[in-house]
Amino acid sequence: MTNGIISFIGGGNMATSLIGGLIADGRDPASLYVSDVDTAKLEALADTFRIQTSSDNEEAVRLASAVVFAVKPQDMAAVVKGVAVPGKAHRPLFVSIAAGVREPDILRWLGYDAAIVRSMPNTPALVSSGATALYANPFVSDEQRNLAESVLRAVGLTLWVDDEGLLDAVTAVSGSGPAYYFLLMECMERAGIALGLSKDHARMLTIQTAFGAAKMALESSDPPATLRTRVTSPGGTTERALDTLMAGGMEHLVHEALHAAHGRSVELGMEFGRNGEADEEGD
Ligand SMILES: NC(=O)c1ccc[n+]([C@@H]2O[C@H](COP(=O)([O-])OP(=O)(O)OC[C@H]3O[C@@H](n4cnc5c(N)ncnc54)[C@H](OP(=O)(O)O)[C@@H]3O)[C@@H](O)[C@H]2O)c1
Repeated sequence: MTNGIISFIGGGNMATSLIGGLIADGRDPASLYVSDVDTAKLEALADTFRIQTSSDNEEAVRLASAVVFAVKPQDMAAVVKGVAVPGKAHRPLFVSIAAGVREPDILRWLGYDAAIVRSMPNTPALVSSGATALYANPFVSDEQRNLAESVLRAVGLTLWVDDEGLLDAVTAVSGSGPAYYFLLMECMERAGIALGLSKDHARMLTIQTAFGAAKMALESSDPPATLRTRVTSPGGTTERALDTLMAGGMEHLVHEALHAAHGRSVELGMEFGRNGEADEEGD
């Protein structure tokens, strides 16, 4: 089906950001459709964006060329199984943004050779600064790849991986990554206060410095290591601080932390798949 309608199943935080991003990019609100169990959320979305809404997930699938699964991972098995019949009849592209829910499980729950793009966005998508990796299964056409990419690009950077297993690495780097930077900000804020700054000043200086460093890294063609060397004068204050961080095992700790996140992502993928099997046994 190629009528250009994009449906969202689940009208929460991420769907709201994606819909806002698509409309800001010039997409006609009449081509967007959202279904959710919460009618108050649907009314708010219709008021804000003038899009079509419904509490009927099957209708959302019947109408669309592309359907975005934007429900919590633990709700995915029931939601996906609930739209398998109209999916098989109408053959839309399915795009999942549910963290940790694997393509083979979605395919099994749908029960036919469905075109599925699985993506791993991160929380800064909520402020149009997300980083999303996408994986397409073999049933996705080039046109459908472009459509899926355009949805996620509305809220930030996108890139493709050829191996779905790499989404666990993506989860460790960018999925969980915002929290690593928040932790560093918390530590810097507390250290600034200990050095005599007011809480407000320590926070403002920390956050603006994080933003400035990220902007420099984004806008420069040099890698972060070169930028770091450039701002580190021999015998200066920055060098003294960086020596302290490295002596304390910063590099090793970051390596360990990302490996731990990767391992948990693999475990969660297996758990979400098993949740669906438990439902199947109960069916
Ligand atoms: N938020 C992020 O920063 C972020 C980042 C990366 C990935 N993600 C992924 O994005 C997905 C959505 O996250 P979110 O933060 O947008 O969640 P959310 O705000 O909780 O939105 C999910 C919505 O789906 C609704 N829902 C539940 N069951 C449904 C059903 N059977 N049919 C239709 N709608 C149903 C929920 O209603 P109720 O609240 O009434 O249950 C809720 O309105 C998750 O899978 C998450 O892993 C989110």
